[in-house]
Amino acid sequence: TIKKAREAGDGTINPAVRKDINKVVDFIDIEDITEKVSLCRCWRSKNWPYCDGAHGAHNKATGDNIGPIVVRHKEK
Ligand code: FES
Repeated sequence: TIKKAREAGDGTINPAVRKDINKVVDFIDIEDITEKVSLCRCWRSKNWPYCDGAHGAHNKATGDNIGPIVVRHKEK
């Protein structure tokens, strides 16, 4: 189960974001994105759900290659 995996310390990817709830879901209204927004995919940002560059330290420490998803308006 997820609970057992959490207790064993394996199978989870979220180390610290809102661990008091069962599912982390965020909504960003597309109209509020003026130019572009970088969204965290490494679960280590202190500014969740936005990327704050924390993926860099994670990649360096683990050899991983994680980066954000950038949502932007199509260039015209
Ligand atoms: Fe998580 Fe950049 S801080 S992807």
